[in-house]
Amino acid sequence: MTQEYEKIKAYLRKDLPVRLDLRDEVSSTNTLLKQIGAAGEPEGYIMVARQQNMGRGRLGRSFLSPDSGIYMSALLRPEMPVTEAVRITCTAGIAVAEAICEVTGLDARVKWVNDVYVGDRKVCGILTESVLDENGGIAFAVLGIGINLCMPKGGFDASIAGTADALYHEETAPDGVRERLIAEVWNRFFSMYQNLNNPEIANRYRALSMMPGRRITVLSDYLTGVGRSATALSIDDDFGLTVRYDDDGTTETLATGDVSLRFLD
Ligand code: BTN
Repeated sequence: MTQEYEKIKAYLRKDLPVRLDLRDEVSSTNTLLKQIGAAGEPEGYIMVARQQNMGRGRLGRSFLSPDSGIYMSALLRPEMPVTEAVRITCTAGIAVAEAICEVTGLDARVKWVNDVYVGDRKVCGILTESVLDENGGIAFAVLGIGINLCMPKGGFDASIAGTADALYHEETAPDGVRERLIAEVWNRFFSMYQNLNNPEIANRYRALSMMPGRRITVLSDYLTGVGRSATALSIDDDFGLTVRYDDDGTTETLATGDVSLRFLD
């Protein structure tokens, strides 16, 4: 662990206001950081784990977290209304996609709103959880990132084998990649986080987006799978996704959190 710590530190920008906590196996870095945040820890605490036994994803799903991945969360205390917390998630998506491109050479893209893909396979999921104060403002937020670095022993679980991929198709990544990737994600994230209202962030998100022109099903009810087929058109400055529906030709700009998407092609 000490060696890993020194290696990550060596790649981290020296002026980053972060404190690293490296763990072997945890329940969930998001769950633990929510406890640490509630106890008053200042912003900038980052936990990185080699595996999770109760990893959590969006919509109450579990996030399988074998020791072939990178699981990490950062504690943030942003001064913004909770309605804008999506900026954190999208900024993290940019940071992960750009870091993957730089460190591995793979062409990573962002699927609206919070997944990172290589080709048509998901390689990373992002979960931002906000804890509110008594006035309804954000007391703190936990930004969690799970990256499929290598192939799990025995392959991916059947439930995600058709949609997930790893950055490396072996059981280990080249020396130093794990540490560099971790550092590059946080270098990028925190340099944007200092000014989340910068319009350049939406431009960077658009440049990495895999959505425009894609045929999708817009699921307003994820559980029943009921949805409308549409074409994704563009992403606006508030990270809304504009779509055109097949059935009546109307367009709508979807706000994050309202809907889930499935690709049709
Ligand atoms: C998703 O794809 O639905 C989001 C997955 C988020 C997974 C990460 S792994 C680190 C952090 N800890 C968790 O329990 N979840 C997030």
